[in-house]
Amino acid sequence: MCPPEHFTVEYAINPWMDTTVPVDPALALKQWQMLKDTLTDLGHTVHVLDAVPALPDMVYAANGAFSVDGKVYGARFKYPQRAAEAAAHRQFYVGGPWTFADPEHVNEGEGDFAYVPEAHGGLILAGHGFRTDPAAHTEAQEVLGRPVISLKLVDPAYYHLDVALAALDDRNVTYFPEAFSESSQQVLAQLFPDAVIADRADAEAFALNLVSDGRHVILNHESTALGEKVRAAGYTPVYVELSELKRGGGSIKCAVAELRP
Ligand code: ARG
Repeated sequence: MCPPEHFTVEYAINPWMDTTVPVDPALALKQWQMLKDTLTDLGHTVHVLDAVPALPDMVYAANGAFSVDGKVYGARFKYPQRAAEAAAHRQFYVGGPWTFADPEHVNEGEGDFAYVPEAHGGLILAGHGFRTDPAAHTEAQEVLGRPVISLKLVDPAYYHLDVALAALDDRNVTYFPEAFSESSQQVLAQLFPDAVIADRADAEAFALNLVSDGRHVILNHESTALGEKVRAAGYTPVYVELSELKRGGGSIKCAVAELRP
């Protein structure tokens, strides 16, 4: 995670960003801290990247890389405003027990990549359509040695995979079908017949932008409707208020880069 110390909305690269509405930096930091405390209280270890001035979106740490089996596929951001974030993430991994691969193609890390370790022996789900270049899907498969399922995003409001789909545990996912092309919906229905299906109201609340440890599903406080659906499927929803980060077009998942050693 990376604290929103320099968080602002001073450019607009997704439909949620409104540069005319000022953000409340103190509130953003307080809410972020609550998310971090929630994760540590649940027993998880959180590593913190230093925030870099002039990189206001760096709080969305999920976009900086994608790791599977101790291998890391680095990010290459689509927009120049975020390009320099990749180096900060790279530095974290090259200093640790990871095999790091620099990307040739545009990809925004866990924004557009998810991993489901026990689906068909380990599947990478990958989004394209707005940010990540489909060529990066092939590149990720070569780097990570796991099959990549390409999914096409079709609604600009759901510009990253992680605002349209989330892994709930090692086998199952939740997603908002209409964020995907019809063929991609068909692929998801084939692979995940027991998925928890989200509706438009869930997606608009950024409910899909969740993190799960397989038991606890951490959602933002507006996401109680999806929370009840995941509860019915056997998980425990945990809510955290993260309203300020929504102004940049992200929520819980965007703020957390998961490490898969
Ligand atoms: N303002 C950021 C952008 O548009 C938000 C990124 C959200 N992160 C995510 N993992 N979906 O790039």
